[in-house]
Amino acid sequence: MKDIIDVKIRTRAVDFSDCRTDVLAVGMFSDSKKPDKLTAELNRRLGGAIDRPTKTGDFEGKEGTSTIIYGNDRIGANRVILVGLGEQKKATLDTARKGSANAAKRAVAIKAKTLSLALHRAFGRRLEAAAMGRAMAEGAYFGSYLYDEFVTESEDGRLRALKVEVIDADVAKSKQLKKGVSIGAVIGRAQSYARTLANRPANVINPPALAAEAGKLARGSKRLSCTVFDKRQLVAKKMGGILAVGSGSKSEPRLIILKYSPAGKPARGLPKIALVGKAITFDSGGISIKPSADMDHMKLDKSGGIAVLATMKAVSELGPPLNVYGLIPSAENLPSGSSYRPGDIITTFSGKTVEVLNTDAEGRMILCDALAYAAGRKCEVIIDIATLTGACMVALGTHMAGLMGNDDDLVKNLQKAAEDSGERIWHMPSGDEYAKEMKSKIADLRNIGSRWGGACTAAAFLRQFIGDAKWAHLDIAGMDIFTKATEYSAEGSTGFGVRLLTTYLANLAAG
Ligand code: BES
Ligand code: MN
Ligand code: ZN
Repeated sequence: MKDIIDVKIRTRAVDFSDCRTDVLAVGMFSDSKKPDKLTAELNRRLGGAIDRPTKTGDFEGKEGTSTIIYGNDRIGANRVILVGLGEQKKATLDTARKGSANAAKRAVAIKAKTLSLALHRAFGRRLEAAAMGRAMAEGAYFGSYLYDEFVTESEDGRLRALKVEVIDADVAKSKQLKKGVSIGAVIGRAQSYARTLANRPANVINPPALAAEAGKLARGSKRLSCTVFDKRQLVAKKMGGILAVGSGSKSEPRLIILKYSPAGKPARGLPKIALVGKAITFDSGGISIKPSADMDHMKLDKSGGIAVLATMKAVSELGPPLNVYGLIPSAENLPSGSSYRPGDIITTFSGKTVEVLNTDAEGRMILCDALAYAAGRKCEVIIDIATLTGACMVALGTHMAGLMGNDDDLVKNLQKAAEDSGERIWHMPSGDEYAKEMKSKIADLRNIGSRWGGACTAAAFLRQFIGDAKWAHLDIAGMDIFTKATEYSAEGSTGFGVRLLTTYLANLAAG
């Protein structure tokens, strides 16, 4: 298997004119009257070359656009990439993140070895330098990412390493930028790790393989420990939901339990938070089988679990003063002679019984066991993340994930994290009206509701397994995949949730 691109990022206090680089990236707003000082100076040295694409109308600074200009011996860069930032009044941190991703994607495409980012200059003083550094670093990882580990016959070979730097002539400003860049690099790397794991197909990653990966991650960190419940232990613990969903596949199900603590052992007095992620390594629907069109997308049904795994990686590197559990129930949902069936009544880990009316509503069946486990460990906050319902995609499209929860502060903190991370979410209901639809006549619960409000009834089902904890649920169906490449990213897994969850935890630790 081939390696995915190796991205290194640093901050450097250097004047752009002395900055020897393959590509120098500067930003331009669509409505700004004049370029920032650096860009104006570049334009002068390049004899007006930066003005030209604007004058001809080829480049208007619109969001998602960029254009390459070639350097001369009066500047250190071989190329300058002008990155469109859209309207100035609409600019946020995500504008810088996406601009950086756009530049990184183009740098990889032209096989540049070094990329120097000066995008922040266009923003003036409007946004904090550390936050800008972080966003640009996250964007550099995001945009340069490409999944090609199984391509053996590439036509022209591809870049294996990219050196990125954030540059600013001002030493004090560079210091601020650097603080953010080092955090952004941790988060960006974790997100790329998530994308690679998620992109791997179901014949490569099954529940035992995912558990092995989690074990490997934990062995590499003093602050992480990993316990895996195999099938025997799941039987002994009576985790009926995970076992039922996993029963149709030759690959056995697992419950992966990662623990993070700042000094490697549970720290008293620090908040205890559980992240719970759905990791269905392939969702065929089971006996309630799915239509075949686009069924290959269902290799990404492990994305929630992988977002948790990668968040644990990021957290272990950032070292915040928190206790964090990462719980990843994993199974493969296949039809076979040993599969669970519609009509089955399953006794879950909590003791609650569930009437299975559709084997394709399997996410909630595995999550309920992990949620009840988290509740039993007395976690004050439980956040689950799952590609749970097509209904959430119908409701929100592919722009935002659904957010449900039972605590206003938790909801607010997640909304703040969404704003900071650029991974957007929308608050939806999951109260008693919806819970009522999940009652069964012959068991405690049924696993599907009526035809309507499927994202809300799914959340209302999960809500019954969390005890007294503060709880939030992220339905990331539709957010897990780019079906086509965008200006900011290659196609495939998005790694959605890694930035959001890591930012939530980092904000919480910062108080
Ligand atoms: N993994 C799917 C949800 C999904 C659909 C994710 C499309 C991403 C894209 C989930 O397990 C599922 O099949 N949900 C069913 C629930 C239904 C049977 C109540 C659905 O949404 O159709
Ligand atoms: Mn399903
Ligand atoms: Zn599923």
